[in-house]
Amino acid sequence: VSRTAALVRTRKAVRALVAGWRGKGLTVGLVPTMGALHAGHAALVERAARECDRVVVSVFVNPLQFGPDEDYGRYPRALPADRKLVAAAGASAVYAPSVDEMYPQGFRTHVEVEGLSELYCGRYRPGHFRGVATIVMKLFNQVPADRAYFGEKDFQQVGILERMAEDLDVPTAIVRVPIVRESDGLAMSSRNAYLSPAERGAAPALRKALEAGAQAARKRGARPSTVSFAVKRALNGTGLKLQYASLADSATLEPARDLRGPRRLLVAAYLGKTRLIDNIPL
Ligand code: PAF
Repeated sequence: VSRTAALVRTRKAVRALVAGWRGKGLTVGLVPTMGALHAGHAALVERAARECDRVVVSVFVNPLQFGPDEDYGRYPRALPADRKLVAAAGASAVYAPSVDEMYPQGFRTHVEVEGLSELYCGRYRPGHFRGVATIVMKLFNQVPADRAYFGEKDFQQVGILERMAEDLDVPTAIVRVPIVRESDGLAMSSRNAYLSPAERGAAPALRKALEAGAQAARKRGARPSTVSFAVKRALNGTGLKLQYASLADSATLEPARDLRGPRRLLVAAYLGKTRLIDNIPL
């Protein structure tokens, strides 16, 4: 069966669409994305389609979450292909607003999840999580959904959004979906498209380094610093330049001082000009 997903461009249109569904008693799932969709996104949409009667996928490259020297301008954009992918995965609509629709002239309000936004990736991407929290809060208000789906590839992001939803009484439930990987272990990401063939060959070393960290964590007397060191050592000679390897408390996102309890090992590394992130539970 070939399916199509309706394309809506304005806040008014998406609101009317969702209100119509809700009026019929249908449940609604929201999958926020920046487009250039891949199998990781398809997994989010499929999960949403299993759990909700209707699914809206938002596609919006959010200028607010990019730093001045980051890749906003060249971030891949592929709306026709995205529409096909999400329709096949079970979405009913794609909501793809323009920048002016999202941030009309005079826009001034931001959402800041203090403390958590400055850790890990936030240390190197000032303002990034403020941009993410702001756009996601807007999407929650524009697309009143029962559930919203986020991938654990961006582990810090989903933790921050859960905190925000709790703090600001968002009625939408946040659902975490596990990382989807290529067959060689590389976590799926729209930014993988930036990698040259040689870089693409080297990229799975990031996941291997996480595994080396996880193995180090299982050793007697292991500490967060020995785990981070094991990641660093595993990346030697791979061409990947480690930005950070940190252990977080899986529930609170706070930096872990020990290895007791659920922990997440988070990494970011550069391969040429491309910044890759990944994480693994310990
Ligand atoms: O994870 C992403 O693609 C983005 O950060 C999100 C959640 C769609 C907000 O722009």
